[in-house]
Amino acid sequence: MVRHFLEIDDLSADELAQVLDLAEVEHPELSLTRRGVALLFEKPSARTRHSMEVATIELGGHPVYVRADEVGLDERESVEDIIKVFAGYHAAIAARVFEHDKLVRASAVSSVPIVNLLSDQSHPIQTLADLLTLRQEFGSLDGLVVSYIGDANNVAKSLALGVAMSGGTFRIAHPADYGFADEVLDEFAAKGVSIEATTDAREAAEGADALYTDAWYSMGQEAEAGHRRPIFAPYQVDEALMGVAKPTAVFLHCLPAHRNDEATDAVLDGPQSRIFPQAHNRLHSARGLLSFLTAGT
Ligand code: CP
Ligand code: NVA
Repeated sequence: MVRHFLEIDDLSADELAQVLDLAEVEHPELSLTRRGVALLFEKPSARTRHSMEVATIELGGHPVYVRADEVGLDERESVEDIIKVFAGYHAAIAARVFEHDKLVRASAVSSVPIVNLLSDQSHPIQTLADLLTLRQEFGSLDGLVVSYIGDANNVAKSLALGVAMSGGTFRIAHPADYGFADEVLDEFAAKGVSIEATTDAREAAEGADALYTDAWYSMGQEAEAGHRRPIFAPYQVDEALMGVAKPTAVFLHCLPAHRNDEATDAVLDGPQSRIFPQAHNRLHSARGLLSFLTAGT
């Protein structure tokens, strides 16, 4: 049966560990030799495009990058028709979309794996790199406290699921009214995922193994930047907040960073920051995921 990757828990906990193991295989089986991977983007990207393109090449394949305006998803042609066409050309189809539902519709008709490269709801391929970085740092995710400070967005949701699946504790500190939506909390409850949520950044950071933050406004929310900035200001990750976490704590950010908004330069560039190894792990984890999804196909 074809496997899709729309959210981190489309993998079982064992499979997630297997993907992270594959990410560390230097010379993997070339499961994409003479095959294509479609990369479809409705939003900008630096890390995701480049890591997916190089991961495809490292597995022997050829990436084909397509901007949404070229294809016109649901404008020039329906999502379903495009996916059925691309599935005849490519070993996998990966997409960054505004509405998560487009990925759900794609996976319903696709005969090849659909990979979520970020949607309004989730960013699971980022979570793979985050978990790999934490595993490299601490040896295991089991028992780690990962504290996310800021907007309860797509990155935070996938990270919460991934940390819980790996035996860690996910905490979040967010401004009132910027927590997870009720549907997300219902989904966590239905999946047996418990998180610790507070509006107090120091409380969340206390004794944590990792502090994580992301933009205060995501792609498509730029018009809200001026409104959000003062609301999120108490959630800036600075050296004082890092000082509340464990002395061994690391700082993570999916990037791109809005420097001196959600995190100060001193933290982003400081000794506890792992943002560049984390960004480089996007390549290794993407290669691990593609190996997992396309092996034997
Ligand atoms: N972290 C991440 O997904 O970066 P890009 O938006 O640059 O791909
Ligand atoms: N939350 C951000 C992540 C960017 C990689 C966004 O959706 O824009």
